[in-house]
Amino acid sequence: MNINMDLKIAVLAGDGIGPEIMEQALAVTRAVCAKKGHKLLLKEGIVGACAIDATGDPYPEETHRLCMESDAVLFGAIGDPKYDNDPNAKVRPEQGLLRMRKQLGLYGNIRPVMTFPSLIHKSPLRADLVEGADFMCIRELTGGLYFGRPQGRSEDGNTAFDTCLYTREEVERILHLAYKFAGQRRKKLTVVDKANVIATSRLWRQIAQEIAPQYPDIETDYLFVDNAAMRIIQWPKSFDVLVTENLFGDILTDEASVITGSLGLLPSASIGVHTSLFEPIHGSYPQATGKNIANPLAMILSAALMFEYGFGLMEEGAMIREAVNASLEKGIVTEDIADGGKAYSTREVGNWIREFIER
Ligand code: IPM
Ligand code: MG
Repeated sequence: MNINMDLKIAVLAGDGIGPEIMEQALAVTRAVCAKKGHKLLLKEGIVGACAIDATGDPYPEETHRLCMESDAVLFGAIGDPKYDNDPNAKVRPEQGLLRMRKQLGLYGNIRPVMTFPSLIHKSPLRADLVEGADFMCIRELTGGLYFGRPQGRSEDGNTAFDTCLYTREEVERILHLAYKFAGQRRKKLTVVDKANVIATSRLWRQIAQEIAPQYPDIETDYLFVDNAAMRIIQWPKSFDVLVTENLFGDILTDEASVITGSLGLLPSASIGVHTSLFEPIHGSYPQATGKNIANPLAMILSAALMFEYGFGLMEEGAMIREAVNASLEKGIVTEDIADGGKAYSTREVGNWIREFIER
């Protein structure tokens, strides 16, 4: 099938290394579109610390409108040390990310965890444990402790509180999404919670037990989050699709990245009510900003996910994956994975991948 499409994409490069890695992902995206005859309509918007500097708001209304009017959002990273080190800052870049997730209704964050044959040795885990690991974390993204209110401090400032809140509707929709993905894969779903202690987790588990019979061809199992954290490291190959609430998912997916070998390799897709968003799971990496050393692969692979999940263009996604794999095999890699060999710059890696696609 070869349908020529108009792809209207909101480009939010954000802070830190965001702009540098975005430049490479866009070059690759343009090359794929040129080859496949798609028309690319790119529009840039601001978000994060750079948006606070420009407008006082980390997710300005104009950026939200741009996202709503687009078919997909490509997002780089947000965050700036000047806010991390100031716990009293009233406005924070992360609020922009959270508001963007909430306002776009991006309740499902899909974080695939895979290994690359040429990078197996990069994982601190034993090769025989990680080789062939291939699972998908589905993280609920618009509920739980991140959004529950009340949240704050007591008057004397010495007590702080957060609220973990989930409704039946929120749990049901993320579980159905997870079952959908499990159905397309190896048909195993692991529900991760802390139902032995917390009430929201008991609601999750109860609803999962109610829903499971609707998917008789999928094996459902349940793990407490502490146990899941251990098993991800010890038996990564035992997972297919894992679904969990917001904060557990945040923590487990950083942990899972060590299976791949570098945080700089993992893309993600956030899907939900409105426009889907595609972003690397790493942050803004301020230490590397402007140095042309950051690994662009997670961002480039996020563009691959955009073609696949955002537009249903599987061949286009595969073209990018093939080029990325080739660059890894050839050792055209940034310093985080160069492993004593020659380290290439962000731009050199991006150019190599783009040229591979243009060939
Ligand atoms: C992530 C990040 C964010 C999160 C931060 C930057 C707010 O760690 O996307 O995993 O906690 O969700
Ligand atoms: Mg995180």
